[in-house]
Amino acid sequence: MSKSVLITGATRGLGQGMARHFAQRGYKLALTARKQEDLIELKTELEASSPQVIICELDVSQFDRVPVVLREAAAALGGLDIVVANAGLGEPARAGEGKFQQMAQMIDVNLTGAIATADAAIELFREQGRGQFVGITSVAAVRGMPNSGVYSATKAALGKYLEALRCEVHGQNIVVTELAPGYIDTDINRALASRPFLVTAAAGTRVMVDLIEKQVSFRYVPPWPWTLVAQAMKLMPSALLRKM
Ligand SMILES: NC(=O)c1ccc[n+]([C@@H]2O[C@H](COP(=O)([O-])OP(=O)(O)OC[C@H]3O[C@@H](n4cnc5c(N)ncnc54)[C@H](OP(=O)(O)O)[C@@H]3O)[C@@H](O)[C@H]2O)c1
Repeated sequence: MSKSVLITGATRGLGQGMARHFAQRGYKLALTARKQEDLIELKTELEASSPQVIICELDVSQFDRVPVVLREAAAALGGLDIVVANAGLGEPARAGEGKFQQMAQMIDVNLTGAIATADAAIELFREQGRGQFVGITSVAAVRGMPNSGVYSATKAALGKYLEALRCEVHGQNIVVTELAPGYIDTDINRALASRPFLVTAAAGTRVMVDLIEKQVSFRYVPPWPWTLVAQAMKLMPSALLRKM
């Protein structure tokens, strides 16, 4: 029987790329995002390969809507095997430059929205007796990245939350996976001056779906070279970090 996956922020970038790979691998899909037209377009594309595709409008910063949409998707697909909290914002925002509203929105979407998604997913998984929750963090969580301090903070905080969550669900047939991408070519990083070790969205999301299917606890994406680079980043002196 086909497995089912729900993805937040599915209409662009990594969410869209993962949806394509899951569809090719025969998964039933619940695609969620803010824009109905984009959802309809992607549904039309993926219906050719996936056994069932449903779409639900969802802004993950409307926290009360999150459990409602997960329940609707589970009812339509006969349960959810995997929930991927992918929706995220990553605009640069320096302190003291009038960007507080942007920063607060980033916290709502990247952190509180992802936790709302996890909270609803875990409740559902406990009832089903199975499930896998996937959170998307970042190599930007390894250090507090200048000009992206709030983005780094949301991803670091989400990583700690997922670590605790993995302990909470131990022995309950629930898997918690954290994927921390480096630079994968999407809208979120196109304006950056430097994107070291860049990979295409198609290649990066193939690795992500492989790792989700392997039910890993944590991996950088792609694992090479980022596992090594992340260790080097931890040792980097602040003088060097300031230049990034
Ligand atoms: N690409 C990378 O190199 C990279 C590296 C590290 C981590 N990540 C993380 O990977 C995830 C996906 O990023 P991406 O690279 O695919 O970025 P992207 O191309 O900018 O796509 C972001 C997605 O999130 C959705 N989104 C934004 N705010 C939302 C909200 N309030 N509710 C629901 N959906 C919302 C967007 O949908 P709309 O069309 O509605 O805006 C879009 O589908 C993010 O969590 C990001 O932080 C990416």
